[in-house]
Amino acid sequence: TVTSVIMAGGKGERFWPKSRTNLPKQFLNIAGNKSMIQQTVARLEKLMDIKQIFIVTNESYAELIGAQIPKLPTNNIIIEPIGRNTAPCVGLASLIVEERYPDSTMIVLPSDHIIKDESEFINILETAVHVAQQQENIVTLGVSPTGPETGYGYIERTDEMWDSFNTPVYKVNQFVEKPNLEIAQKYIEEGNFYWNSGIFIWKSKTIRKRIQQFMPDMDVLLKDIQPALGTPWESDTIKQKFLEMPDQSIDYGIMEKADHIYVVPCQLGWDDVGSWTALDRIDDRDDNGNVIRGNILNIDTKNCIIESNDGKLIATLGIEDLIVVDTEDVTLICTKDKAQEVKKLLKELRTQK
Ligand code: GDD
Ligand code: MG
Repeated sequence: TVTSVIMAGGKGERFWPKSRTNLPKQFLNIAGNKSMIQQTVARLEKLMDIKQIFIVTNESYAELIGAQIPKLPTNNIIIEPIGRNTAPCVGLASLIVEERYPDSTMIVLPSDHIIKDESEFINILETAVHVAQQQENIVTLGVSPTGPETGYGYIERTDEMWDSFNTPVYKVNQFVEKPNLEIAQKYIEEGNFYWNSGIFIWKSKTIRKRIQQFMPDMDVLLKDIQPALGTPWESDTIKQKFLEMPDQSIDYGIMEKADHIYVVPCQLGWDDVGSWTALDRIDDRDDNGNVIRGNILNIDTKNCIIESNDGKLIATLGIEDLIVVDTEDVTLICTKDKAQEVKKLLKELRTQK
């Protein structure tokens, strides 16, 4: 069997003020008329039954997931007592998935990415699953980098190819999570690097073993949780043990250390919609390079991203390279080069409260 684990606990803070703590990015319609998580589920349903799809999240989003994906069985929503980043998230999910589907190959993926080429996505996953089912392989999907972005993991491939299936697959030399700019630049020049798309494929048994090997403390906590599975997430054991979990991502905790990693290079029209400037890639721009969403009047306006809310008119004159986003209670005005730093505003707001 093949199963999927969708990680949906993120807060999407760089998409503030549209993305809010009670309604983060993955639940919004940022591209198209379905939310990102609805699109993620729909893509996976082309490969498997909804019963094989699991979503890991925290308590506050469980209801929202139920409302947005009504056909998802309730006990496929895995609730973390507290967000401890992706390593504990994957660890908990692998326990639960293994209990329900003892020998499954898991596809672990984010809830908030855009993938334009769905049929290629299915092809690539079929290949990836095939490779992950052999030995104890870990398979990643690699995206051709377009620049030295420091917010991604980098995957260096070797020339050694997997005995070909229907798409090229390479043995990985090293996985480096979020290198600094200098190193990222070097990787781009070297040319045999991919960005990590954040999608991983492995047997549940493989990831359990790697956790035991590289995150032994977390492994002990997971083993303590195991007997309590099936009791509500609020149960003292699960809650207590989860609080003790390391706050670590799967990339740092496992991927940087593991061997037998393979990468499937792919061109999926992938975008992780990391911040507002992603709209420059997602939407069509007007003749002046603007992305316009909603009721906008603009004159002498260049390379801006402007989104109005609920029919309210936004009128601009003579502005350039700005992001203007109006919501019911907040209006954001920000230069494009600061798009990654929108989180700073939130941090400041919280200290004022
Ligand atoms: N359930 C749960 N619990 N989900 C979580 C948690 C958590 O504690 N933390 C993050 N997530 C979800 C997010 O919602 C997102 O869908 C996914 O896990 C990845 O987390 P991010 O926080 O967005 O990771 P990142 O963007 O810094 O880096 C990862 O993704 C990049 C590609 O977008 C890494 O895998 C990088 O290597 C990769 O390049
Ligand atoms: Mg991300």
